Amino acid sequence: MAFKKDFLWGGATAANQCEGGFDEDGRGLANVDVCPTGEDRTKVITGKMKMYECDENHFYPSHKAIDMYHHYKDDIKLFAEMGFKVYRMSLAWSRIFPNGDEKEPNEKGLAFYEDVFKTCKMYNIEPLVTITHFDCPMHLIKEYGGWRNRKMIDFYMHYCETIFKRYKGLVKYWLTFNEINMILEAPFMGAGICFEEGENQKQIKYQAAHHELVASAMATKLAHSIDKENKVGCMFAAGSAYPYTCKPEDVLEALKMDRESYFFIDVQSRGYYPSYALKEMERMGINIVKDELDDDILKNNTVDFISFSYYNSRCAAKNMSEDDIISGNIFKSVKNPYLQYSQWGWAIDPLGFRITLNQIYDRYQKPLFVVENGLGAVDIPNEEGYVEDDYRIEYLSEHIKAMKDAVTIDGVDLMGYTMWTPIDLVSAGTGEMKKRYGFIYVDRDNEGNGTLKRTKKKSFYWYKKVIESNGEDLSY
Ligand code: BG6
Repeated sequence: MAFKKDFLWGGATAANQCEGGFDEDGRGLANVDVCPTGEDRTKVITGKMKMYECDENHFYPSHKAIDMYHHYKDDIKLFAEMGFKVYRMSLAWSRIFPNGDEKEPNEKGLAFYEDVFKTCKMYNIEPLVTITHFDCPMHLIKEYGGWRNRKMIDFYMHYCETIFKRYKGLVKYWLTFNEINMILEAPFMGAGICFEEGENQKQIKYQAAHHELVASAMATKLAHSIDKENKVGCMFAAGSAYPYTCKPEDVLEALKMDRESYFFIDVQSRGYYPSYALKEMERMGINIVKDELDDDILKNNTVDFISFSYYNSRCAAKNMSEDDIISGNIFKSVKNPYLQYSQWGWAIDPLGFRITLNQIYDRYQKPLFVVENGLGAVDIPNEEGYVEDDYRIEYLSEHIKAMKDAVTIDGVDLMGYTMWTPIDLVSAGTGEMKKRYGFIYVDRDNEGNGTLKRTKKKSFYWYKKVIESNGEDLSY
């Protein structure tokens, strides 16, 4: 058998993209609640346009999303029907601490997640919890400037202590920050950062990253001390960079592109700033302000496992003109002539998945966990809402095959696979509902119309078979 007997098969979601109920039961406003759909979204999520309140001229998809806040029992039941062993989900920080800097948590928020976990347990589904998935209480942004401010570490630690204690025995797998490297590309969404005119943006982003890295290490330590069963992972947006040609200049460019992401995991997994990053920061005049104990904290509290998302590989060239760059994905990449692209311009590259798994494992030698992988596509349901999504089945099947090769042929140590996402939800990049990833169709459109009815797609039955056979039967 290719995958371990206790391999964790499942799916992943994020609170802001599925829950809705953005102002219910005491939940506070979060950064994701002020990210609208439409052309202003990119400006807002990248911190170039300040939107600290909602206005009448925009539509904010997180407010209702797919209303999982009220549908979670039925939705988890459907996940169980597919045979999920694990469900990756995130907590909305502002549901537990509406402002983020309170002493006392919001009991209703805590109780909500407790019931979600208990529902999972009822079906023998192990929760895998992302502590922050593109999520920061707005109050912390308005008052403190988000993660650019070191005080965020204290607020985050108070939040962590609260949830580690409350959910002891219910949750043992934790991820500290979703796609931590996203801070470089979408700093408002990733870390609640907006820029003022003339600011040195790189300095701010790397300083904020340092705060997150220290917070992540401190949270790892705390999780271990509260419950020795706890396993804490880092999480980054992966996808190896290929050189566009074998010209050494292009190869060097690809190396640099990879290092932009590996930097974070180098710190979280090895416990210190890599020398290439220190040199680069020195050249760029970036000066990281550290506390005396930071280096020790990083060194002594590395992660237990490495998790990552993989959607596509990337491609780098020394001379990239704007015309060569493929748009659609937040990460810049030259168009790879050997690959097909999705409807949203994301490269489809299953072999790249195997390559990525290998490169990460070679580098860190720790167990890996694939926590996102999937295809965003337009689905056309029939009158009953049923979708024949053969394209999605093909994408996932080819990727799981590649993952299997990484395990059986290359010997990568893999704990589990949570595809993105078992149920249609709001896209993080574009805010659309139209960009669907799920095995379960949700009747809701980009403008917020629809009954929210859930319908199983063809892929639902296919994934059930995959899990049942522990990844042996990938036929389609
Ligand atoms: C990852 C995120 O970047 O990719 C998810 O962790 C996101 O939150 C997923 O939804 C797919 O991206 P998108 O933009 O298609 O939703």
